[in-house]
Amino acid sequence: MSVMVVTGASSGVGRAVALRFAQEGYTVCALARSVDKLERLAKEGDGNIFPYPTDVADSGQVERTFAEILEEHGRIDVLINNAGITTPGRDIVDFATVDQVIDTNLKGTIYCTFAALPTMRENGGGRIINIASVAGAYIHYKGNNGVYAASKHGVVAFSESIGRMVRKDGILVTVLCPGGIDTPLWDGREYPYDRSVMIRPEEVADLIAYILQQPERILFKNVIFVPVVEEW
Ligand SMILES: NC(=O)c1ccc[n+]([C@@H]2O[C@H](COP(=O)([O-])OP(=O)(O)OC[C@H]3O[C@@H](n4cnc5c(N)ncnc54)[C@H](OP(=O)(O)O)[C@@H]3O)[C@@H](O)[C@H]2O)c1
Repeated sequence: MSVMVVTGASSGVGRAVALRFAQEGYTVCALARSVDKLERLAKEGDGNIFPYPTDVADSGQVERTFAEILEEHGRIDVLINNAGITTPGRDIVDFATVDQVIDTNLKGTIYCTFAALPTMRENGGGRIINIASVAGAYIHYKGNNGVYAASKHGVVAFSESIGRMVRKDGILVTVLCPGGIDTPLWDGREYPYDRSVMIRPEEVADLIAYILQQPERILFKNVIFVPVVEEW
């Protein structure tokens, strides 16, 4: 049975991905900070979702969680680096927010990738899908959340670089750059259009399923997909 690790599994995209792949029979290791939400998710997961409460911004916690996953499930076939937070649309944000966003979105992705690579190498391959954002897709980004954009540009650059290095080991790295997805990330923030035009979390899960089904001779490196009304 294939083992998938999903970060940020307690909400939005990560939750949809966890449920989708649990239904397909994957063993899904679900990471997030909210213990109660992870436990509720596990109850919906046909016995295939295993909660691992973890703050991905904390390297020690990431190390411990991945060691536990390997002890309990023996391998990692797929890693979905999805945990992320956004910044308020302001020109300056406080330093604590800067740290939290960079540590979660960028360093969290790097920590989890490095924690998964050795076992994937030992097994002769694996897949890593990093959820960046349209905020990381364009040099001339027009949004007003610079720290978030910087973190996501970092994720794109990291994915490209590490992807080149591990391809020879049969490990395929894909980065996704979506525009607006209708998730709790937007609750309390203003999306400039009706939320019905947004991408749905289940559609991101469908795209991931499609990418994972592709033969190993094809690499999807970077996929940008946006609601049509967003002017990217
Ligand atoms: N929604 C959009 O429009 C959109 C567009 C482009 C890209 N994205 C990206 O898509 C990803 C998923 O976002 P979403 O829209 O699904 O948002 P969401 O509903 O707010 O979910 C974010 C998830 O990340 C987890 N998380 C946050 N900080 C964490 C930490 N330090 N350690 C572990 N988990 C953490 C949260 O769980 P806990 O709070 O329980 O830890 C939650 O499960 C993010 O990387 C986001 O940047 C979203």
